[in-house]
Amino acid sequence: MQFSKRLDRFGDEVFSSLNQRRIELERQGRTFYNLSIGTPDFETDIAIRRALADAAMEPANWRYALRDSDALLDEVIAYYKARFGVTLTRDMIASCYGSQEGIGHIGLVLCNEGDTVLLPSPCYPVFIAGAKMAGAEPWYYPMTEETGFLPDLSMIPDDVADRAKYMIVSLPSNPMGSIGSPELYEALIAFARQHDIVLIHDNAYSDIIYDGVVGGSFLQYAGAAEVGAEFFSLSKSFNLTGARVSFLIGNPALVEAFKKLRSQIDFGMFLPIQHAAIAAMRTERARVKAQCDDYQARRDALCEGMSAIGWEIPKNKGSMFVWAKLPKPYTSSMDFCLELMDRAGVICTPGASFGPLGEGYVRFALVLPPEKIREVCAAVKASGILGG
Ligand SMILES: Cc1ncc(COP(=O)(O)O)c(C=O)c1O
Repeated sequence: MQFSKRLDRFGDEVFSSLNQRRIELERQGRTFYNLSIGTPDFETDIAIRRALADAAMEPANWRYALRDSDALLDEVIAYYKARFGVTLTRDMIASCYGSQEGIGHIGLVLCNEGDTVLLPSPCYPVFIAGAKMAGAEPWYYPMTEETGFLPDLSMIPDDVADRAKYMIVSLPSNPMGSIGSPELYEALIAFARQHDIVLIHDNAYSDIIYDGVVGGSFLQYAGAAEVGAEFFSLSKSFNLTGARVSFLIGNPALVEAFKKLRSQIDFGMFLPIQHAAIAAMRTERARVKAQCDDYQARRDALCEGMSAIGWEIPKNKGSMFVWAKLPKPYTSSMDFCLELMDRAGVICTPGASFGPLGEGYVRFALVLPPEKIREVCAAVKASGILGG
């Protein structure tokens, strides 16, 4: 069979060699601490599961949904008002099957072949895949230690900004765990306006933000809905990862274009899942905050535990990820990950899988409780991989 040239735009799956090695070691009876994939281990609230189950018993809910129900759209409107003080209208909202799918398709809505797209580096991989799927060329703006792991707009040349079609910003960030500020969002909106760029904010971690900071929405800032939109995922705040629910929220013309593209290939979100999404957005804030505290305890266990054994890892400010510089003398994140798995039984993700500027780091996902994370630190120490 001959496959499309489009497929050649995507590299080999980074996880495959790690997985292969893990399977070999598991066959030998080894067990692992897996901190590689950001899938929450917290239980989905019973009220959400019940809403899904009850709706699934209703025969009419097994038809094509075709569209987002008014009840779903109105729940998003109520949520944004209560949570962020943002006023939305129904034409500013479109559901998608997770931000992953939405971001994967957004390039097809906004770009022609050869167009320029501004993406962070390091970044969550679908930002790159979505641009490439559309035949666009990513231009990577650095989000490294030198820039405080934040966008520095002065590093984007005027001619690049002038030809860019869209820019993705995602804070709290994956994998770096950095967070935004009002000044940054205001500067981004002014920049988008000046250069006629569509701004896409990926807000996957609005509820996983630490040390007393309250997460926000890009749409809280004046002019945001004129220049762009944000992806609001239910995956992490409400442990809905497998149900695949996110929304593109913002500029009505962009939302309309997004719906037009998706309606060519989709008949709408399964109605029982729409009911579950409504229940999720009604979750008590105290519950979401308690979960965030649990993530913070995990972060503290990991960063303090590793620092105590000689691997200095600064505390991330948000997201469910810790971004750690390779200990000396390692320089290849993939080699280090393979060795860490072999010697300590700990699996993390090589920084190189997050784009050109991710090399030199690894990412830990905070998907185990603090007591297990303390075992992880003990295993790393016992392995001798840190030298000394
Ligand atoms: C920054 C970021 N965006 C999007 C996603 C995907 O979210 P969803 O489950 O809504 O597809 C993730 C998942 O880890 C993420 O880290």
